[in-house]
Amino acid sequence: MKITVAGTGYVGLVTGACLASKGHQVTCVDVDEEKIKLLNQGKSPIYEPELSELMEQNRHNLRFTTDYVSAYRDAEVIFIGVGTPEKYDGSANLSYVYGVAKQIAQTAERDCVVVVKSTVPIGTNDKIESYIHDKQAHNVKIYIASNPEFLSQGTAVRDTLHASRIVIGVTDSYPAEVLQKVYEKFEAPKLVVERRSAEMIKYASNDFLALKISYVNEIANLCEIVGADIEEVTEGMGFDQRIGNQFLKAGIGYGGSCFPKDTKALNWLANFNDNEIRTIKAAIEVNENQKFKLVKKAKKYYNDFLFLNIAVLGCTFKPGTDDLREAPSLVNVPLFIEDGAKVRVWDPVGVENFKKRIPEKIEYCGSIEEAIAGADLCLILTEWDEVKNFEVKKFEKLMKCPIILDGRNCYRLEQFENTRITYDSIGRKTVNADLYTEK
Ligand code: UDX
Repeated sequence: MKITVAGTGYVGLVTGACLASKGHQVTCVDVDEEKIKLLNQGKSPIYEPELSELMEQNRHNLRFTTDYVSAYRDAEVIFIGVGTPEKYDGSANLSYVYGVAKQIAQTAERDCVVVVKSTVPIGTNDKIESYIHDKQAHNVKIYIASNPEFLSQGTAVRDTLHASRIVIGVTDSYPAEVLQKVYEKFEAPKLVVERRSAEMIKYASNDFLALKISYVNEIANLCEIVGADIEEVTEGMGFDQRIGNQFLKAGIGYGGSCFPKDTKALNWLANFNDNEIRTIKAAIEVNENQKFKLVKKAKKYYNDFLFLNIAVLGCTFKPGTDDLREAPSLVNVPLFIEDGAKVRVWDPVGVENFKKRIPEKIEYCGSIEEAIAGADLCLILTEWDEVKNFEVKKFEKLMKCPIILDGRNCYRLEQFENTRITYDSIGRKTVNADLYTEK
C-alpha cells in the first residue's frame, strides 16, 4: 500500500521503517530539513538499535522528504506520528498534530485513512476529524482512525514488529478494514475498538506502568526503613501472574518521553473535566520525589558537597537510548554543581545531548575508570551494561573515597562484602554503611 508517515521521531521513523519492511511503499515526511538530509544519506537521526539496518534493508520501499504536498496527495493511508509534548499546565501540546492535519486537509486528493499514532487526549480524534472535514480542499473521503503505539525506546523496532497488540480505534468499518490490511503481515493480536477507547487504552496503559513503578519505589523506600530487601520482595510478588514480574524494578524514578508526560496529561484531563484521578496524581508526586533520592542519601555521607569530586555513571533516562527527556540526571547533576561539587560524567551515548541540556561546567569521560578516578562519591543513574558488568573492586582501587550511590540497583549486595566500598542502593540494606560517614 502507499503509506505516508508524518514525523520522523521515534514513533514515526520506526513505524515507517517497519511498514516498509512488510512491503508497503512508505514516504516519511518531516519539516526538519536537517533530519531529512541525514535520512536521505541513510543515517538515522536517533539512536535506536536495529533501526539503521532496517532502513538500509528496505531502502527501496522508503522515501524521505520535506515536501508534504507530494507526500500526502495520493497516499492511501497517512500516519500522524509527530510529538505531543507537555505544555506548562501539564496538558498535551497538539499544535504539531493539527499542523499535519491542516496540510492533509489542503493536499489529499484521493480517499484516504488518516491514522493518529501520536498520543492524544481522549476526544482528539473526533476534533481532528471535524477540523480536516472543515478545511479539506478536495472532494474526497478522509477517515480518521486511532492506532496508538506501545513501543519502548531501545527496543522500538522489536516492539513494533512483534507488538503486544495492535489497537485500531474507529467509528466505521472501512478504516478498520484498511488498517487490518496495513497490518496483515504483523503477527500480533488486533483489537478493533471505539476511537475514544483506543485513545484511552494508550493513556491507561502507560499510566498504569508509571503507577506500578511509583508503587514499587514507595515499597522500596519503606523496605529501607524496615530492613527488607526490595529485590527479594519484587521477586516474590512477580510470581503472582495477576501482578506480573515486569516493571517492578525500584530506582530513582521513571523518565523518558512518555510516562512523565502521559501521567500529567491524564491528570490534566481529569481536572479539566472536574474530576480527579488520585492514583495518577500520587504516582506523579512519588516520582518527582524519588528523583532526589540520591541527593538525600549523599547527605548521609557528606555534610556539604563543596569541592567534592562526584562521578556520575549514566545520564540517559534508561539504557539503550541517547534520550534525556525527564532523566533524573537533569535534576541531580545541577544540584550537586550548585552546591560546589565537581562533576564528571560518563555515558556511552548520552553525552552530546547532555551537553546541550546542561551548560554548566562538567568533565566528560570516555570510560568508567576515568570518571571514578579520585572521586569522593559515585552516583549510578542509568543501568548501562558497562556499569552492570564493571568489576566492583575497581571502585575501591580508583576512587578516593569509595562510596557508591546506586539509583538503579546494578549490583548484588554480596559483591561488596569483603571490600571497603560503601554501597548504598534503593530499597536494600547499605553494605559497609558506617565506613565513611562524616557526621
Ligand atoms: C514507555 C512504555 O514502556 C511504552 O510502552 C510506551 O509506548 C512509551 O513509554 P519508554 O519511555 O521508552 O517506554 O521506556 P520504559 O522502558 O517503559 O521506561 C520508562 C522509565 O521507567 C525509565 O526511566 C525506566 O528506568 C523506568 N522504569 C521502568 C523503572 O524505573 N522501573 C521499571 O521496572 C521499568
